[in-house]
Amino acid sequence: MTMRTRNLGTTGPAVSALGLGCMGMSALYGDADRAESIATIHAALEAGVTLLDTGDFYAMGHNEMLIGEALRTAPAALREQALTSVKFGALRDPEGNWVGYDGRPAAVKNFAAYSLQRLGVDHIDVYRIARLDPDVPIEETVGAIAELIEKGYVRHVGLSEVGAETIRRAAATAPIADLQIEYSLISRGIERDILPTTRELGIGITAYGVLSRGLISGHFSRDRQLAANDFRAHSPRFQGENLQHNLNLVEALRKIAEQKGVSVAQIAIAWVLAQGEDIVPLVGARTRERLSESLGALDVTLDAADLAAIEEAVPADAAAGDRYPSAQLAHLDSER
Ligand SMILES: NC(=O)c1ccc[n+]([C@@H]2O[C@H](COP(=O)([O-])OP(=O)(O)OC[C@H]3O[C@@H](n4cnc5c(N)ncnc54)[C@H](OP(=O)(O)O)[C@@H]3O)[C@@H](O)[C@H]2O)c1
Repeated sequence: MTMRTRNLGTTGPAVSALGLGCMGMSALYGDADRAESIATIHAALEAGVTLLDTGDFYAMGHNEMLIGEALRTAPAALREQALTSVKFGALRDPEGNWVGYDGRPAAVKNFAAYSLQRLGVDHIDVYRIARLDPDVPIEETVGAIAELIEKGYVRHVGLSEVGAETIRRAAATAPIADLQIEYSLISRGIERDILPTTRELGIGITAYGVLSRGLISGHFSRDRQLAANDFRAHSPRFQGENLQHNLNLVEALRKIAEQKGVSVAQIAIAWVLAQGEDIVPLVGARTRERLSESLGALDVTLDAADLAAIEEAVPADAAAGDRYPSAQLAHLDSER
């Protein structure tokens, strides 16, 4: 299979049209199998996936060390094609509690120094603060990344979950490759102000949660037991009546998927792919089976009639429940 590529904005690198988000291999969605996680990263690289996304705070360095091991044990040619996208800035304590954000220039350089060691690489391809630090102007955080670029430790600046005004301020400070933000059939908030802004400024989108954390994958059911530390155990969209309402939307989507002979997850990923060449979905596969299903979305062609049918089945704003619990929603500059 030849992997299609897309550009991360006008100044960023060309990357595979689907990226692999590695978060669930270490954190937030219950236990994951380490050997299978590494096999999944290797299988993704073999299939031509070049973009691996992580955060230094995903299980406090665990996810970066996992990716480091996967890169070390991959054949050299595959290791060399891998591009790392790393988020920093979220602070944790030894119990894993979230204790704030730090976007000060000295902290940015400190975070980067540790990430380079954990990943076992000499540079990070795209580096971004996960959430805007309300106490530090974005110009200072982005300026620190620009200094790391000058010294060769980072290649490109990215952003994460920020709104139009912050995007403009960041872009006035340094070239921005991409904005990482949630975007899916049931999370379409970026279409109002954020997407027009990134398009005007030539900034790409790496879309996460394209399956709404598994909710619209077609594999989630009401009887799925979630561990207390699973994000979904506290996510409004996965609770009680909201969950039932949202799963009903999935059943409407399943009818369309069946007519096209593809899976629900494939149609949900293909819908995001169809929203523009500037958008690169990050799929959260953590097994080779899920990865293979996700990659199948690249072969799904949606024409205007398909897109209309999908949006009739799952209208914008049809989801019940916010995309984050309210305390976490309050940290999102993108939701202001
Ligand atoms: N910038 C940010 O604020 C931010 C926030 C969240 C995530 N991210 C990044 O974006 C990446 C993707 O986010 P996400 O993991 O929430 O996305 P996602 O792809 O919407 O959700 C992944 C979940 O979907 C389930 N799933 C079911 N079928 C699947 C399939 N065919 N392929 C992949 N997953 C399938 C997985 O299932 P199983 O339970 O069966 O494994 C997993 O629990 C993360 O890994 C992370 O790197 C960024």
